[in-house]
Amino acid sequence: MNGNPTPSAPAPGGGGREAEQPPVGLPVDPSLVDGRAPDRPAEGIPELHEVGCPDDLRERIEELMSRYPDRHSASIPALWAVQRRYGWCTPEGIRQAAAVMQVTPAYLESIASFYDLLHTRPAGRHRVLVCTNISCWMRGGDELLDAFYEAAGCEPEGAGHGGAVTGDGETYVSGFECLGACDIAPMASIDERYYGPLEPADAAAALQQLREGAEPLSDKALQGREAAGGPEPDPDARLASDA
Ligand code: FES
Repeated sequence: MNGNPTPSAPAPGGGGREAEQPPVGLPVDPSLVDGRAPDRPAEGIPELHEVGCPDDLRERIEELMSRYPDRHSASIPALWAVQRRYGWCTPEGIRQAAAVMQVTPAYLESIASFYDLLHTRPAGRHRVLVCTNISCWMRGGDELLDAFYEAAGCEPEGAGHGGAVTGDGETYVSGFECLGACDIAPMASIDERYYGPLEPADAAAALQQLREGAEPLSDKALQGREAAGGPEPDPDARLASDA
């Protein structure tokens, strides 16, 4: 994630434009104020009947909004629901969420584009995030990321920290900041599951297993490890939720 959990999100409903007016006298590119390309017309809040939102997605977003006193607080989980549904935050999916939430698409786009875990471009069916922050870096995180790029057939220089998608469009590989599992450094998140400590040779094996539809690196999965002090009798029920 490229920022703190609390984004410098725009004011609710996209209505923060007034609050973001530049000081008088300074020239400003309008696209920097409202997040639109200069040649793209402003879009208001779409009507639900215009966007063809699937019932299950609408119900999911409505349920998420019901959890908060202000519906805008559901923006991130709503975008996550869109991403789960379509594989990434498609423009159509964002419009659907915007219609359900009664906010502008630009408001949700500005949030989706802020977070590395929300994708505003196609990002593969499988996602591999390799931590290169300090603990993992000291234990070979950069080499591990290079090994994943090589196994995926991606150019490390070209991919950088923006990530890269394999030629078949199946797998997204990206370096990432601390994923909060420094004790298993160097580690990676593969399809939202943590694995580590990993070696460069694990990269090719993991990608091959993903291609075969098998669980990757099962012997290095964090969820398969016993908790300190012994096995947990019952998994935490919250982990079974897709929330
Ligand atoms: S530095 Fe890699 S998980 Fe924290």
